[in-house]
Amino acid sequence: MPEISHPPQAPEPLLSAQDLRKAYGERQAVDSVSLQLRAGELLALLGPNGAGKSTTLSMLCGLLKPDAGQLAMAGGGVSAQRIGLVPQEIALFEELSAARNVALFGALYGLTRAQLHERVPRVLAQVGLAERAQDRAATFSGGMKRRLNIACALVHAPELLLLDEPTAGVDPHSRNAIFDTLEALKRDGMALIYTTHYMEEAERLADRIVIVDHGRVVADGTLAGLLQHLPAAQRLRLDVAGAPDLDALRGLPGVRSVALARPGRLELGVDELAGAAQRVLQALAAQGVRVEQIDSGRATLEDVFLHLTGRALRD
Ligand SMILES: Nc1ncnc2c1ncn2[C@@H]1O[C@H](COP(=O)(O)OP(=O)(O)OP(=O)(O)O)[C@@H](O)[C@H]1O
Ligand SMILES: [Mg+2]
Repeated sequence: MPEISHPPQAPEPLLSAQDLRKAYGERQAVDSVSLQLRAGELLALLGPNGAGKSTTLSMLCGLLKPDAGQLAMAGGGVSAQRIGLVPQEIALFEELSAARNVALFGALYGLTRAQLHERVPRVLAQVGLAERAQDRAATFSGGMKRRLNIACALVHAPELLLLDEPTAGVDPHSRNAIFDTLEALKRDGMALIYTTHYMEEAERLADRIVIVDHGRVVADGTLAGLLQHLPAAQRLRLDVAGAPDLDALRGLPGVRSVALARPGRLELGVDELAGAAQRVLQALAAQGVRVEQIDSGRATLEDVFLHLTGRALRD
C-alpha cells in the first residue's frame, strides 16, 4: 500500500482509527480501515459506491459500533460532543425555519439558550445562510438544504467534522459556498473528513487522500505522493470503436501502462505525450480500431484510482 509518512515535527493526530471492521450479516462492509487526522487537516475519503465510506464515518462518530478495531481522539475520549456529522441523506425539519433547525440540533447537544443565541447566527453565517435564517427549510434549494445541514452539524462547535458526500446533487453556487465554508473551518483549526465521488474536489480541497475499495484502504497520501506511485506522469485517454490489442499497445516505446477503464475507453500512462500519442494512433489504425476521441494531460487522482483498482471510480 502506498504510504506517505509525516514529518517528525507533526503534532499528535486528533483522530486515530486502527483497523476498523464492520460486517452487515455476511457482507463485510468495512474490512480494514485505518486513518489518522490532525487538527486543521482535511482528509478526503474516496471510493466507489459501496466501498464502505458511510459505514466508516458512522463508526468514527459513534453511530455504529465497530466489530473490531481501535478509535482514539487526542486530549480526551471519542465523544459525540467533539464530532459533527453531515449525513449523506439530508435530515431537516422542512416546516421549521433555518434558525429553528439549527437550534434544535444545538438543543440535542445540550447547548443552553445563551449558547444557542450566540451559535445559531454564527453557524448560519458560516454556511452563507445568514439572510435566510427565518425562512422555512422547505423553501430552500437542494444546495441550500445541504448548507443548512452543515450548519446543524457545526452548532455544538465540534473539533472534527465528518461530511458524507456534501456536494452530491448540489448546484455550482452552493458547491462553491460549501468549499469556502470548509476552507474557513480548516483555517480555524478544525479537522475534516470528506467523502466524495468527485476526484476534482478531493484534488482541490484535501491535504490527504485515503482511497478505499471493498472496505479496505488501498492508498493513503498527499496528492503529490499518490501521483508518484503512477508509472507515468502523463496520461492519454482515447474513446475507441472496436477491440484494441492491449498487449500490442503495452509494447510501444514510451507507453508505461495500458488499461481499459470501460469498454471503448482506453487509458494509457506515457512518458512523453507527443511521441507516444503518435505511436498509439498508428498502432490502433493498424489494428483497424477507430479513434473517436482523444484527450491528454497530466495524470490525476482518477489515474491513481484506475492504477490501484483497475477500475474507473465513476462511469
Ligand atoms: N444498514 C445496512 N445493512 C446492510 N448492508 C449495508 C448497510 N449499510 C451499508 N451496507 C452495505 O455495506 C457496504 C458499504 O456500504 P456504505 O454505505 O458504507 O458504502 P459507501 O462507500 O458509503 O457507498 P456510496 O458511495 O454508495 O454512499 C455496501 O455493500 C452496502 O450494501
Ligand atoms: Mg455512502
